[in-house]
Amino acid sequence: MQWLVPEPDWLGALPPDVAGHIRTLAGLPGFPRHLARFSAVLKKLDKKHEGTAKVLAVEAWRMADKDPVVRQYADWAIRRHVPGWHFGIINDDGRNAIYQEALNRHVRPGMTVFEVGTGTGVLAMLAAREGAAHVYTCEMEPLLVEVARKNIARNGLTDRVTVIPKRSDKVELGVDLPERADLFVAEIVDNGLLGEEALTITADVQARLLKPGAVLLPDQIELRGTLVGGPKCNRFFRARPACGLDVSALDRLGPAAVQSPAGLETDLAEDVVALRFDLATAASYRTAQTSVEVKVRTDGEAEGFLSWIWLRFGAGLEYTNRPPAVSCWGPRIHVFPTPMPVTAGQLVPMQVHHDCKRVRIWSER
Ligand SMILES: C[S@@+](CC[C@H](N)C(=O)[O-])C[C@H]1O[C@@H](n2cnc3c(N)ncnc32)[C@H](O)[C@@H]1O
Repeated sequence: MQWLVPEPDWLGALPPDVAGHIRTLAGLPGFPRHLARFSAVLKKLDKKHEGTAKVLAVEAWRMADKDPVVRQYADWAIRRHVPGWHFGIINDDGRNAIYQEALNRHVRPGMTVFEVGTGTGVLAMLAAREGAAHVYTCEMEPLLVEVARKNIARNGLTDRVTVIPKRSDKVELGVDLPERADLFVAEIVDNGLLGEEALTITADVQARLLKPGAVLLPDQIELRGTLVGGPKCNRFFRARPACGLDVSALDRLGPAAVQSPAGLETDLAEDVVALRFDLATAASYRTAQTSVEVKVRTDGEAEGFLSWIWLRFGAGLEYTNRPPAVSCWGPRIHVFPTPMPVTAGQLVPMQVHHDCKRVRIWSER
């Protein structure tokens, strides 16, 4: 097979010595495997080659995405573009159902819908299916743009859904989007609530791309939580005696926050709202620190503050991954440096800090 005839653009954009080596490799049988392996070598050689290595790995994968060896060597680059959690979210029926219900309630015939973060295209297609006149959806990841366009074509919706291959802040009114939208939908909330920059993105979209009074889905987002303790909770941040030996000197190197194990007992204290954002108010968000008090229910030892997300899709439609719910979103434990003895009725003040992206929660006690 003549792999590089005619020569693709990506080859011309490479450093000349790398491009020369690839032209040599292209003459060998099984060229995609050679290319994928070469990308791995290049990546290992020096950090400064990582960008080039990523291009080569992706191109090897494009040529032979079913070749198991190519997949092994190119995987790191594909994962950088498309993290594995995309499968977790698209296979989460509860998540999909709440967005479907929200779109069913709020999309009216003739509406223009705008989405940030197309992914597979699922939400854009649901909005079209619910009767939107047209859905414009932007995606910053080129490999996902290809995926979404294929899915949209497979579902016969190409004339009703337009994928804009851009980051949301580069989307231009009158160029990519013909008019301000009536409804904005996005699933850009991570386990920590703000990690995908939902606040900044929504504020920008609202100012530039939406009609006044446009529907936002979700329209309110919160980080909620409570104190947690008990033996199930601390295995990822406290070193227990091992074969009768005290190995707890490791504890000082423990993480400040971890993903929570599933099915944690959460009856040590009452639930509180740690952070609340009403997205519809179009605030200009800034770094902030607040304090919340958690009321202890039963005597025990608190190991940390367990947080989860809460989303509202207009009045009366809410979603949360509060344990014991099973969800693609995982609750997080903000770990106390040492276990904290607590007694029923006590109020434990928690500090909650966010910089519009990362949330940090701790206790000064
Ligand atoms: C959590 S996924 C949701 C995908 C899809 N909407 C769904 O619900 O299954 C978020 C997607 O948004 C994209 N994304 C995040 N920030 C973006 C931005 N500012 N502009 C465009 N795409 C963005 C990511 O690449 C990712 O594909």
